[in-house]
Formats: sequence, C-alpha cells, structure tokens
Amino acid sequence: MARVTASVYTSHVPAIGAAMDLGKTHEPYWQPLFAGYEPSRAWMKANTPDVIFLVYNDHANAFSLDIVPTFAIGCAETFAIADEGWGPRPVPAVRGHPELAAHIAQSVIQDDFDLTIVNRMDVDHGLTVPLSLLFGKVDAWPCRVIPFPVNVVLYPVPSGRRCFQLGRALRKAIASFDAPLKVQVWGTGGMSHQLQGPRAGLINREFDMAFLDQLIADPEALSRKPHIEYVREAGSEGIELVMWLIARGAMSDSPPRVVHRFYHVPASNTAVGHLVLENT
Ligand code: DHB
Ligand code: FE
Repeated sequence: MARVTASVYTSHVPAIGAAMDLGKTHEPYWQPLFAGYEPSRAWMKANTPDVIFLVYNDHANAFSLDIVPTFAIGCAETFAIADEGWGPRPVPAVRGHPELAAHIAQSVIQDDFDLTIVNRMDVDHGLTVPLSLLFGKVDAWPCRVIPFPVNVVLYPVPSGRRCFQLGRALRKAIASFDAPLKVQVWGTGGMSHQLQGPRAGLINREFDMAFLDQLIADPEALSRKPHIEYVREAGSEGIELVMWLIARGAMSDSPPRVVHRFYHVPASNTAVGHLVLENT
C-alpha cells in the first residue's frame, strides 16, 4: 500500500524563484535564506519520495477570477509552467500521477469533500518555488507531483478546520492505494505577509513562531483558529497558512520527528517559514 512518509512546509515567495533563475543565490540578501534550506535538500536526497501531493495556491494564473474552485486536484499526466508575465520560469515541466490522483479524488469525494477535477492546468510560483527550494536547479524533477490548488485568494476561503479534516481524508485515501509508493504531502504559502493596502509589509514573528510550535505539537487545536485571525495577525496573504493544515492532517496521530525547522525575514515582503516532519 502507499504511505505518507513525511510532510514538508515552505513559503513560496516568487522572488526566491527569480533569485535562483538569475543566479543570485550567493548575494548577501539571499545567502542566509538558501543556507536555511541546505539541511532539507540533503535530507531530501536521501528521502526522495515517489510522489509529492503538493498543496498550494494558484495566483490567478491557472484560474482567472471567472471560476475559482475551493479545492482542486490535478489529474493530468503533465503540467506546464505558467507564464506569470515574464515568460514561464526555466524549470522542468511537472509530471503528475494520474492513477493516484484519480484514486484520491474517488476516496476524498466519497468522504464528502467536493474537489474540482482538473485535467489540464499550468502551475505557477505557488508550486514551482517550493520544488526549486527543496530540489535546487535540476533538468527533471526527481519524482511525480500531484498539484492540489486551494483557493486562498478570493473570499470566502476554506477554514483551517476544513483543511485539517481534508488532510485526514487524504491520509485515508493514500493508505488505500494498492502500490508501494512513498508519498510526501507538502503544505505551502505563508508565513505572515501582506502585499497591499495600508498594512503592506506586515510581518508578525510572534504569530509565526506560535503557529510553527502548534503545527508540530497540537495541530487539531491549531485547526480551530478562525480564518479572520490569520488575516488580522498574519496579514491578508498570511491566510495562505491554512494550507499547511492539509499536509499536517495527512500525518499519522503519533508525534512527528522534526527533521528541520527554519525561519527567516524577509524575502521580498514575506516572512519565510520552513519545516520538515517525518512520520515515526
Ligand atoms: C510575495 C509573496 C507571495 O506569497 C506571493 O504570492 C507573491 C509575492 C512577495 O512577498 O513578494
Ligand atoms: Fe502567494
């Protein structure tokens, strides 16, 4: 049977992708950030999964404001890199896992989560920046990826509680797939940041630290945090953090092993948080 081996959490700031694509990672501004991901890259080399179930948000690239699904699952064979205005990032196309994606869709929808099935989609920085951070510059991504976009852009957004419960349903779906696949579930976006309005540039280190602590130790309690608290405390784009609860919900009930934890301010306008948790 397939199993969830680990979960990975990271911010997705587009400027990080640009720094990698333009060869700026050793510049003083960027060096501490990339150094913080080195332990995870080394761990990932020894623990490359067969499939990543990658929870992220699209930023009006695949979905315009005409149609905005709350939860969507990428079931295609491949996903092209989105052109976000400067041409697509020079990174490999993403290879999906249609069989596992279809199985998860069947199981999770029958568990009463209404997913949108996506058979063709371009993927934006929300998905490619986390892959770049964990795998570096590569000719091909080393595993399959099932993209799972969540709407955190157009209100109303899903609650943390719903995201956590969806993670639980996802865990059950993966455990019932009849192939010996190692699957990682990634939760991406965050941490505190606000990109527009009078509070643009907001960073809340205290909130971010408490979120990381509770995500590790008591995710069920964390899942009860109302969405408006994310917006108030972590900024309008801090709401991206609810996606981390899907990945955490997919982990086993026993306490996870913390492989690596990292926090850095700033990258562009954003507080960057990163965590790797292994199932024990
Ligand atoms: C920034 C952060 C984001 O999450 C995003 O989607 C776009 C930009 C930023 O900090 O620049
Ligand atoms: Fe974002």
